Amino acid sequence: MSDLRWWRDAVIYQIYPRSFADLNGDGIGDLPGIRSRLPYLRDLGVDAVWLSPFYLSPQADAGYDVADYRTVDPIFGTVDDARGLVADAHEQGLRVIVDLVPNHSSDQHVWFRQALAEGPGSPLRERYHFRDGRGDLPPNDWPSIFGGPAWTRVPDGQWYLHLFAAEQPDFNWDHPAVADEFRTILRFWLDLGVDGFRIDVAHGMVKEPGLPDIGGAAEWHLFDVGDSPCFDRDGVHEIYRSWRSILDEYPGERIAVAEAWAPTLSRVANYVRPDELHQAFNFSYLGTAWEPSAQRSMIDDSLAAMGAVGAPTTWTLSNHDVVRHTNRLMHGNTGDIAGKKPTEVDQVAGLRRARAASLLLLALPGSAYLYQGEELGLPEVIDLPPEVRQDPAFHRATGQDGYRDGCRVPIPWSGTRAPYGFGPEGGPSWLPQPDSWASLSVEAQSGVAGSTLTMYRDSLALRRKVFAAEDDLVWQDAPTGVLAFDRGNGFRCTVNIGTEPARVEVPGQVLIASGPITAEDGAAVLPPDTTVWWSI
Ligand code: GLC
Repeated sequence: MSDLRWWRDAVIYQIYPRSFADLNGDGIGDLPGIRSRLPYLRDLGVDAVWLSPFYLSPQADAGYDVADYRTVDPIFGTVDDARGLVADAHEQGLRVIVDLVPNHSSDQHVWFRQALAEGPGSPLRERYHFRDGRGDLPPNDWPSIFGGPAWTRVPDGQWYLHLFAAEQPDFNWDHPAVADEFRTILRFWLDLGVDGFRIDVAHGMVKEPGLPDIGGAAEWHLFDVGDSPCFDRDGVHEIYRSWRSILDEYPGERIAVAEAWAPTLSRVANYVRPDELHQAFNFSYLGTAWEPSAQRSMIDDSLAAMGAVGAPTTWTLSNHDVVRHTNRLMHGNTGDIAGKKPTEVDQVAGLRRARAASLLLLALPGSAYLYQGEELGLPEVIDLPPEVRQDPAFHRATGQDGYRDGCRVPIPWSGTRAPYGFGPEGGPSWLPQPDSWASLSVEAQSGVAGSTLTMYRDSLALRRKVFAAEDDLVWQDAPTGVLAFDRGNGFRCTVNIGTEPARVEVPGQVLIASGPITAEDGAAVLPPDTTVWWSI
């Protein structure tokens, strides 16, 4: 825990609390459940966990609608549970990053309720975006990212802005009370001992003055926001500079990572300039086609863009908003990556490709973000019935969008029947788990040679041994369809992204491979969708 640049090459594991482990048996995961599973995470070999929100919330958007930023929702536990979780994690050598949701609150937040109760002219209305409409129409033409208009009318006739669900009113970040409030929220959790924050919709918050119309532009997609009057405005950087100075007051390198969907990598790099946040998710990489030249150029572009501001690159393939990469990489992986209806894929081929992509990702210089369940090779669940779906976008967009529940199905830990140790035997789980998941459980894969869990455990252990954060990536010549690069002294990663088996010269000893490889006349043959790490 003493390495002060820990985050530059950290492996950070995203826990989606409602789907991780359910200790009290109500069908929804909780903080005591996470606490009970910390040894699993330590043995997996990750450096830190990031927890999606567990704060008091009516759960209109699975906790991304926060009613009280300093209270834990009773479905997840208490603030003492959070304190105990952080302390236990530290004892196991794990750091803890929590989610901060500053763009919007819940409509049940005390400020918003009071703003509503007090009516037009209430000073609390100024902490949100309340406006009069244009006749019977909303104040401008902005659509909500979750479908429908971005404005909801209240009984006294005014409208309020919500870029997401109607239960998520946007804060007015021009109001000093909003900025003050968030500075004290940061301190609250830093004092409790957390090691950092994941900043939700970090490219939101600041809106163009006057909230101008966008001229009937097409609908906005969750993460494909382009140039817009409410995303990635230059003003957000002032907020991050003020937060960075707070983080730096605390010992032990507390960090912040931005969920910033900006149009170019250089715009994303603005969030990680030396006096701003530490990391930003690399969504450009997440959305890159599984194709050799696209992968290679995105890797180069990412390293160059973040390197230009002295920040480490991050790499990620899955999270709670996107179709799992066991599925997504199989159909182009381009265009809309979030919330869209996933199609069926050959699961064996999908897992092979996902394993190759994960082993490539873990060899890249920088920090890796893993999403719970990817270490088990979980498939996307594509056949959840509409009545169990909870993604608010699914309901607002009346089924054309909002398929995020398929990656949020609770983790299978053990046993042969649902809920597979997620909660007590025979107990509920908030989303049904497929009947076929027994063979994917932690218990079924632990210690099994060739299992996806074993591949992750072994590669994370090797990662600590074979290269250092500062080891650059140096591309090597490779046959068509194959990418090969070296790092430091004595490490090579070779990945066959092509459609044919590839013969490569054997550069040394195999450290780990994502799938079987064979030897042929002194060369190694890598089937398509195979990654190998070598010691050279
Ligand atoms: C972020 C979260 C997503 C949520 C949205 C609104 O993108 O990752 O889950 O729905 O913000 O808070």
